[in-house]
Amino acid sequence: MCGIVGYTGTRPAGPIVLEGLRRLEYRGYDSAGIALFDRDHGLFVARATGKLDRLIQRVEGTLPPAVAGIGHTRWATHGEPSDQNAHPHLDPSGRVAVVHNGIIENYHALRARFLERGAVFLSETDTEVLAFLLAERLERGEDLLDALRGVAGEAQGAYALLAVDAEEPGRIVAARVGNAGGIVIGLGDGEHLLASDLGALIPHTRRVTFLEPGEFADVRADGLAFVDADGRTIEKTVAVQPYDVVAAAKGRFRHFMLKEIHEQPETVQYALHGYSPDPPRVVMDGLPFSDAEIRALTRVVLIGMGTSMHAAMVGRHYIERFARIPAEVDNSAEFRYRGPVLDEHTLVISISQSGETVDTLAGMEEARRAGCPQVTICNTPGAQATRIAHGTVYMRTGPEIAVASTKTMVASMLLLHGIALHLGRVRGTLDPSLARQQIEAALHVPAAVGAALELEPRLAEIADRYSRYEDFLFLGRGLGYPLALEGALKLKEVSYIHAEGYAAGEMKHGPIALIDERMPTVAIAPHDEVFDKMLSNIEQVRARHGSVIAFVSHGERAVDGLANEVVELPAVDPALFPLVGVVPMQLLAYHIAVQRGADVDQPRNLAKTVTVE
Ligand code: F6R
Repeated sequence: MCGIVGYTGTRPAGPIVLEGLRRLEYRGYDSAGIALFDRDHGLFVARATGKLDRLIQRVEGTLPPAVAGIGHTRWATHGEPSDQNAHPHLDPSGRVAVVHNGIIENYHALRARFLERGAVFLSETDTEVLAFLLAERLERGEDLLDALRGVAGEAQGAYALLAVDAEEPGRIVAARVGNAGGIVIGLGDGEHLLASDLGALIPHTRRVTFLEPGEFADVRADGLAFVDADGRTIEKTVAVQPYDVVAAAKGRFRHFMLKEIHEQPETVQYALHGYSPDPPRVVMDGLPFSDAEIRALTRVVLIGMGTSMHAAMVGRHYIERFARIPAEVDNSAEFRYRGPVLDEHTLVISISQSGETVDTLAGMEEARRAGCPQVTICNTPGAQATRIAHGTVYMRTGPEIAVASTKTMVASMLLLHGIALHLGRVRGTLDPSLARQQIEAALHVPAAVGAALELEPRLAEIADRYSRYEDFLFLGRGLGYPLALEGALKLKEVSYIHAEGYAAGEMKHGPIALIDERMPTVAIAPHDEVFDKMLSNIEQVRARHGSVIAFVSHGERAVDGLANEVVELPAVDPALFPLVGVVPMQLLAYHIAVQRGADVDQPRNLAKTVTVE
C-alpha cells in the first residue's frame, strides 16, 4: 500500500512525479505529497490531504522546474490522513526528505531517542523518524547511501524507502527492506525513474530492474549503482518489460471496474491459450515441475487473500475433482502463523494479482522454508511472488486498475482449472474423455462470459430496486459458495453495504436469524447436484419475508414465482459455472455502488496492493 515515485534527469520532475502518482493512486489515496529539488531550486515540498487532485490543485502554477523529485500517495497506517501525516517527511533542518511504503515496527523506540533530546515531530507517522535518523548520520559525515544502509539496519520492519539530501541535488537513494513494498527502477535516456510498480514507469521506459529485499540503489541522472546491506556492489540485470499502456486507460467506460468487467471474455480467451481438444491437452506455461515431481505430490495447498482466496476455493474443487489430490485452501495471513504441516511433496499454489500482498508473500516464504514446490498465479511481471515461487503462471489480463478485483479472479479460476487438468493427466487420474469434455466446455466460456455481460441492463434494474437496503445475505453451495463470498465482498467494498456470504447449508445454523423484509438474499442456484437444497433455502428465506434475488441456470423455471427476481445465466458446463456466475455478482455490486454515488474505482479505506499486515 502507498505508492512511491522518484525521478532524476534533465526534464522538469514535477509533472513526471505527479503522473507517476496518478498511476499508483490505486495503492492508496488518502493524501499525497511531492518533494522537488535541484541545484537551482533548493528543496520544494507540498502535501495535501485527500486524493491526488487536491495536491495538483494546491501546487498548480507553483511547481519549480527542478529536474529531480520524489512523490508519495498514502494509505494511512500510523496517523490519520492529514497534511501533516502526508509524505514526504523531513528532518528538523529540512535537509533530508523521505517517502516510505510499509511499516517501521520499532518507530516508538527510535523516536524516543530524539524526543529525549527535545526534538519535535510534526507528524504521527512511523516514517518521519527515518528522516531524523538519516540527517543524524549525514551530520556525522556519512555518505547518503551508507547512511541509508545504517538506517535500514536500525529501523525494523518490511518497507520500501526513497530518500534525498538537499545538499546533493539530483541524487536519490532507495532501500527495500523485507518483503513489503517493491521498488522498480527504470533506465531512460540520461534519466532514471523509481516507483512502487511498473505501471508508473511505463510511459517513460520499459528497461527496468527490480530491487530485491536487502538491496539498496544509488540513483543519479547519469549513474546507477546497487549495493547489499554490507555495502558490497551488486550487478543487476535489466529486462525489457512488455506492458499494455493502452489498457491502463478507461476508454469508453465510466469506471475502470466496469471496463475490467467487460474485458473478461478476452481475459478467459487468453487464459485458454494452452487448451487443445485433440488430443485433449492443456499446456500450462510457467509450471516448472517434471512429470515425476507431479506424480510424487501428496497434497496441494492454495493460499491467497480476499478475491484471490475465493479463486483458490474454486481451484480446490478443480484439483480434487480432476487431479484427485487432496487440496486445501488457506487465507495466507492465517497460514503463515499457524505453523502449517508442509513437506517437499506438498504443492503450494499462491494466487495474487499484485504478487506483492504481504501475507501471501510471508506464506510463500513459510512454504519455501519447508521445501515445498511452489507455483504462483500472478498478474504483475517481476513481482516478488514470482521471484519466490519456482514457477509463475501469469494471468496476463493487462493492468487491473480498479481497486476491486474482477478480471484477475476470472483468469485465476480458469488457470487453476488448467493446472488441475494438467496435473490429472500427468498423474493418470483424469479420464481422457472427461479431459476432452472439460477442454471443449472451457472453449465455450468466453462466449458464455460475453453472454453474461448482456445481463447488465437487467442487473442495473435490480440494482435500482435494491440499492437502498443496508444489509444483504449471499448464499451458495459447492462451487456457488466461493461466489457467495465474492458477491458479498464486491458489494461491501464498492457500495459500503453490509453483506454476508455463507455456505447455504450454514444458513440454519445462525444467519437465518437475520432474515426479514429488510435483508435481501442473493441465492446462487445453478442446476447442479445441490440445486434442490438451494431451492429449500430459498423457500426458507421467503417464509421469513426476505426478498430473494436468484441466479439460476439457463431455462430454469423452478424458482419462478418463488424468488422476487430471477436471473437466468448463460449455459455453461457446471464445473465452469463460477467463471460465468461471478460476472453478475460484479455487475450487481457495480450498479448498486453507482446508484449510491460511491467512489467505485477507489473505495474508501482500501488499497489495491496490501503491503502491510
Ligand atoms: C477485492 C480485492 C482484494 C484482493 C486481495 C488480494 O476486490 O481486490 O480482496 O483480492 O487484497 O490481492 P492480491 O491478489 O494482489 O494478492
